[in-house]
Amino acid sequence: MSEVLLDVRHLKKYFPSGDRNRPVKAVDDISFQIFRGETLGVVGESGCGKSTTGRLALNLMQPTEGEIRFEGRRLDVMRGKTMREMRKQMQIIFQDPYASLDPRKTVFQTLAEPFRIHNREMSREEIHREVTRLIGCVGLRPEHIYRYPHEFSGGQRQRVGIARAIALNPKFVVCDEPVSALDVSIQAQVINLLQDIKQEYNLTYMFISHDLRIIKHLCDRVMVMYLGTVVEIGSKEAIYERRRHPYTQALLSAIPNIRQTDTGKRILLTGDIPSPINPPSGCPFHPRCRYCMDVCKREKPALREMEDGTRVACHLELV
Ligand SMILES: Nc1ncnc2c1ncn2[C@@H]1O[C@H](COP(=O)(O)OP(=O)(O)O)[C@@H](O)[C@H]1O
Ligand SMILES: [Mg+2]
Repeated sequence: MSEVLLDVRHLKKYFPSGDRNRPVKAVDDISFQIFRGETLGVVGESGCGKSTTGRLALNLMQPTEGEIRFEGRRLDVMRGKTMREMRKQMQIIFQDPYASLDPRKTVFQTLAEPFRIHNREMSREEIHREVTRLIGCVGLRPEHIYRYPHEFSGGQRQRVGIARAIALNPKFVVCDEPVSALDVSIQAQVINLLQDIKQEYNLTYMFISHDLRIIKHLCDRVMVMYLGTVVEIGSKEAIYERRRHPYTQALLSAIPNIRQTDTGKRILLTGDIPSPINPPSGCPFHPRCRYCMDVCKREKPALREMEDGTRVACHLELV
């Protein structure tokens, strides 16, 4: 049996909006698990709560409600020194390394920082050796450590971001659109690097992307989000081949070069994504769903488990 690394239950994150009584329901009661060694893909349109979920998973922000366990221990209630110790085990790689790297620091200074904070007994020589090793791991050259972020290309900067994430040998890494800001020609190189590093460091990934081809290439399981909720979660095969949820079908039918549904037709999503300040009643997807029934307008469907383990939140009779 696979071992659960991260266990998320009934997680909510509401942000204040202009209207005091109506918060932004960025994440609205989601539950899922991530197994050790896997890559869980998180997909969904912009604003559906992917990044918020990633940050919550690392306890980088306080949830409004819900519980997060990492290796069985409650993460959401951890503070101070305990959380600082935990931080070594979990890292995040952001979309835009330029924004996440300090422009005034050399690569050496950036990569030395985790060691200075967490391994205070390390000497400068030891840190230098570690930083040089790290930079080699991500395919950069030793002389690169004395350069500043602006002296690098986007792909090289993301390599520095990856080096920083793996510096302390983490177990779990959230990759939040790590290649979305890069040229398509560079994307594949960085994705290959992320895959190599996962092998070498025995990592578990939560991989957030709106690019369904990258998700298909990289992930073992996929979680499909819509308006702060999980509409479907299952193995990559179940999501891409069976595509039970009408939203999953619509999302997948929009990508070229991925096998289409039986009819082979593109399913157009009509209407805009509703606002997370005022989500629709019942199933959040019902106003855009081509199979919408009366019950869908009234009752929010719970995630139901299918025979193959996929869980789908839909009132349709699915098998
Ligand atoms: N700090 C914040 N304050 C207020 N609203 C936020 C904040 N962060 C995110 N949101 C809102 O929460 C929703 C989900 O955002 P996000 O998690 O960034 O989605 P995604 O990563 O899927 O694009 C959006 O409506 C966004 O505007
Ligand atoms: Mg995001």
